[in-house]
Amino acid sequence: SSLLRSVKTLAKPTAARGFSSESVPDRKVAVLGAAGGIGQPLALLMKLNPLVSRLTLYDIANTPGVAADVSHINTRSEVAGFVGDDQLGQALEGSDVVIIPAGVPRKPGMTRDDLFNINAGIVKSLCTAIAKYCPNAIVNMISNPVNSTVPIAAEVFKKAGTYNEKKLFGVTTLDVVRAKTFYAGKANVNVAEVNVPVVGGHAGITILPLFSQATPKANLGDEDIKALTKRTQDGGTEVVEAKAGKGSATLSMAYAGALFADACLKGLNGVPDVVECSFVQSTVTELPFFASKVRLGQNGVEEVLGLGPLSDFEQEGLEKLKPELKASIEKGIKFANEN
Ligand code: NAI
Repeated sequence: SSLLRSVKTLAKPTAARGFSSESVPDRKVAVLGAAGGIGQPLALLMKLNPLVSRLTLYDIANTPGVAADVSHINTRSEVAGFVGDDQLGQALEGSDVVIIPAGVPRKPGMTRDDLFNINAGIVKSLCTAIAKYCPNAIVNMISNPVNSTVPIAAEVFKKAGTYNEKKLFGVTTLDVVRAKTFYAGKANVNVAEVNVPVVGGHAGITILPLFSQATPKANLGDEDIKALTKRTQDGGTEVVEAKAGKGSATLSMAYAGALFADACLKGLNGVPDVVECSFVQSTVTELPFFASKVRLGQNGVEEVLGLGPLSDFEQEGLEKLKPELKASIEKGIKFANEN
């Protein structure tokens, strides 16, 4: 809904929020992996976002075409495409927000962890370049397994001396988007009004939707809550199976990625009370990274919010997810330090 609001702001730049279009600060957004299944619709959605003044699209192939195409849309941002290692620096320089959907997606039967061997290396090399060319940028990590790629990014930045824990985000927005949609369907309430926090991580049982905190309230039974929880945890797999070998979620992910980047930009621009769930460095549990509600601001993370009251079912889910999430975090840290 905040994305929609932004799109409306675009139509009437002076009506919304009472500022003129000239006072909207310049913001550069880079998308790495921009020619992919997520990258292309994400590039489109970022081109529609009036908070963006410059949009750079980077991939190892095909970005000139994607950039030429998107650049013809008559919205605020200037668009440029960059291909290959030699041009990565130019794509990144001066970025306020870098969104990373680079890497291979799942095929039927695969877990997100099965992507580790390929994607860990891609993320490591992209983050090395971010540390060099735009060390102050906010990073939105979409590449899976997010539970490991975010710790990899943190280690790379630490080694480069640029790590700022307030500016590194694992994008878990799609879990929230799914939880809202599925809850609205089951509870028969207006989906546009639904809020559901999703905490933990971004894979299987580490995805923990907190339906006990969902609004508007609905009196769903235990079996309904269990089924909704499972469907949210398996939402990605539902799409992988339906696409039958042709990839994983791309369109809903692009929507979710655009929503989260928009929230980061609003935070940077000083819009108050921007709260989204994200996988960040955290002290909410004993794990070093954890997804929970986060208040976004001019420095990135302004505040990592606590979990709030949990039902017994959620408390049980929380304890169950910790060993798996811990192992995925440690796997990422180990990779970054050994490779
Ligand atoms: P895709 O294969 O369609 O696109 C990936 C793109 O990354 C390709 O264009 C490829 O050329 C590019 N790429 C590969 N190596 C690169 C490098 N070194 N630098 C820049 N670009 C590079 O895959 P898709 O469907 O777009 O998925 C991308 C990633 O997003 C996957 O890891 C997938 O698992 C993840 N994903 C994450 C979700 C989340 O909720 N966080 C949801 C859905 C997917």
